[in-house]
Amino acid sequence: MPLNPTILRFDSLDSTNVEAMRQAKAGAREGLCIVARTQTRGRGRLDRSWQSPPDAGLYMSLLLQPKFEMNAWPLITLMAALAVHDALFKTCGLNADIKWPNDLCVGDKKLCGILAETLESSTGSFVIIGIGINLTAEVLPLVQAAATSIESVTGKPPDGERVLEGLLKSIGEKYELLNNMSGREHLIREWCDCSSYAIGRQVRVSLGAESFEGTTRGLENDGALRVEARDGRMRTVRAGDVTALRSLASGE
Ligand code: BTN
Repeated sequence: MPLNPTILRFDSLDSTNVEAMRQAKAGAREGLCIVARTQTRGRGRLDRSWQSPPDAGLYMSLLLQPKFEMNAWPLITLMAALAVHDALFKTCGLNADIKWPNDLCVGDKKLCGILAETLESSTGSFVIIGIGINLTAEVLPLVQAAATSIESVTGKPPDGERVLEGLLKSIGEKYELLNNMSGREHLIREWCDCSSYAIGRQVRVSLGAESFEGTTRGLENDGALRVEARDGRMRTVRAGDVTALRSLASGE
């Protein structure tokens, strides 16, 4: 069944992901999309926070109830990153890089982050995809990590509504691909085409206390990143942080 998004808008929320969870527990169904102009406790991956000043970013969360096997659910975050990539290209002419698993970057600066969370409730199992896109440069002084915005890259503030509309359309299309094996293979190929991290990139992988360096060797069919470590061992990365050791421009 095609995704049929319904948008629920708020001026201010703690977190659109948390609101999506509250709505799911109260009986909401797949397709509910929560959008806020600002968040007071925006959540990031690995327990980080997400700075969300008013109207400086697109802050949205989408409720999904996937019907396919749970072992394919990790592909949902890759699907979301690809959908953001497509929407940014179509609505802003911006060609962003995807950093595994689901950051959107321009050069080595982050433009968009995605936080997927799962929820078990009396009405079923949900995945909440939370997407934060830096629209204007206002957020940049607030974040310590290297970040950028659509405005900084393209030279003009984007129309957030167009970006949202393009994003929901793109998610609708890519989500359908996850229903069967050939669609999933297609999605992984597309993801690799849009990511300079997929193959041959020198990276450091941080897994909590442990970290190692190696060269990326593509994706497993559940979206895990294959990394050939310096000792020659092939490692499969399903969680953690991946950082590029050198930028491509420096002649790696
Ligand atoms: C990351 O750490 O890169 C993920 C950031 C995800 C931020 C978005 S903003 C909308 C949604 N609501 C949240 O609280 N987080 C996500």
